[in-house]
Amino acid sequence: MRVRIDPQRCQGHGRCYDLAPALFTEDEEGYGHVAGDGLVPAGEEPAARLAAANCPERAIGTGAE
Ligand code: F3S
Repeated sequence: MRVRIDPQRCQGHGRCYDLAPALFTEDEEGYGHVAGDGLVPAGEEPAARLAAANCPERAIGTGAE
């Protein structure tokens, strides 16, 4: 499973890195970024889905790969 953030949509709400700090980080302006290469470690899939579901801008995408 992979996660990605669409930088065109992200408005810096911060739910992603609050809910799934192993998967997302923030930049100095509070915008979310995928940590590392976006590959979701085993056991973090629920956190990835939670973050995606809680982004008000629907900026987080998840993929099966
Ligand atoms: Fe951005 Fe959504 Fe996270 S708006 S900071 S991707 S919760």
